[in-house]
Amino acid sequence: MKLLFAASEIFPYAKTGGLADVAQALPAALAKQTDVLSVMPLYDFIDREKFALTSMNESFQITLGKDIYEISLFEGMNRGVRTLFVHEATLCHCITPYGNKNGDYPSNDLRFGIFSKTLVIMAEMFKIDILHLNDWHTALAALWAKEVLPELPVIFTIHNLVFQGLFPRESVERLGLSEHYFTPEGIEFWGKMNCMKAGIAYSDVVTTVSPTYAKEILLPEFGCGLEGFLQVHTSKLHGILNGIDTVLFDPLNDPALTKHYSAEKLSGKKSNKTLFCKAHGLTDADKPLIVFIGRFTEQKGLDIIIEALPKLLAMKLNFAILGDGDETMAETLMSASKNYDNFSILFGYNESLSHRMYAAADLLLMPSRFEPCGLNQLISLRYGTIPIVNDVGGLHDTVRDIDDTDSSICGQGILLSTLSSTAIVKAVKRSLKLFASKKHFSKISKSNMHCNVSFEESSKSYLKLYRKTI
Ligand code: GLC
Repeated sequence: MKLLFAASEIFPYAKTGGLADVAQALPAALAKQTDVLSVMPLYDFIDREKFALTSMNESFQITLGKDIYEISLFEGMNRGVRTLFVHEATLCHCITPYGNKNGDYPSNDLRFGIFSKTLVIMAEMFKIDILHLNDWHTALAALWAKEVLPELPVIFTIHNLVFQGLFPRESVERLGLSEHYFTPEGIEFWGKMNCMKAGIAYSDVVTTVSPTYAKEILLPEFGCGLEGFLQVHTSKLHGILNGIDTVLFDPLNDPALTKHYSAEKLSGKKSNKTLFCKAHGLTDADKPLIVFIGRFTEQKGLDIIIEALPKLLAMKLNFAILGDGDETMAETLMSASKNYDNFSILFGYNESLSHRMYAAADLLLMPSRFEPCGLNQLISLRYGTIPIVNDVGGLHDTVRDIDDTDSSICGQGILLSTLSSTAIVKAVKRSLKLFASKKHFSKISKSNMHCNVSFEESSKSYLKLYRKTI
């Protein structure tokens, strides 16, 4: 079976979020069991030399609306996966994948329309048996595939329903789509064109990244206005849990760490903490270290952490945040950090620094409002860092409360009773109590490190689904 796995970002070439990690780790796990080709755009900011990307001497034209676009293909290897790259000027001439300070690029309809249409040509060119699309950037390929390759099985994965790829009505013509698609059953959404709807309507199978999120998105609270539409398509909707690449995320071999460790030899974790605290001005490294890593958005519940901050920082703990996003949140955090010596704020997206933080921390705070799957809690389990999470989506499926003995979930942590700053303070207090009973804390931390958070199991579920769809 030959699979074409398409995403707008794949680690390490381009990454803005968890999609890139999954688009690397899932194909890598699948490649051990079947024939996989990954594909993404060759954005200008990708270092072709560093990643040894070469031209395939393959060029062709595609037509969207009235215009013709020149496509050329490149290739490289990514941890055992042959990865193809689509180059076209409109799509690739950018400094980040989707936008800049001023917002999303206005040409994103065209950019990802070009990418999506190219995917269908590639499916034919490479004699693909199944096409796996991810998120709205690839979703129009499902629609075009139904037109030109009606026999080709297509599977579409929703990584985050919030980002739907909404564009003005005029985009329909701009992309050369027939007007008959512009209906509520098709791609129309409150007068706009909705790319995500194309993925849902025209794929044979729709998956999302955890069983709980697959149920949640059928409700108004999590459905982002698509709950009714998803209900219509519920018979083809599946929830398959994400995993992480346990070779890239391995405290025993992680090149980002100066001290390596394992569940059997946890002492190295303490050295990581001491080093981190020293490097970032946190005094008294014996105090428990809590970290938050991620985008500064309401999804991640950072606004509620900010609300709880004075109470949190009054406790005997160190707190460090790494991330980027909402500027008001960033400014509030910045000024708070000036008033406390137990709080450190680190801006930006820094892969190796994040690894050092997972290794250094005792606890990870992740009070997401919604979480399709979440990878941070999986990484933290792997690094022996106990997660404090809100009980939603993939967090519900991967972390059980330390007091919950009756569960099939391996990972243990502290679950918020509800989502509020009071609940965060309460949960952190509980975590400090746990930290104080050293033996219990390290027992849980070690047992978490033994949980299987890899893509091994889930990749089998995907394979089964591919076979069934074919
Ligand atoms: C998105 C979701 C996150 C998920 C990731 C990979 O970033 O917000 O929950 O883990 O995609 O599927």
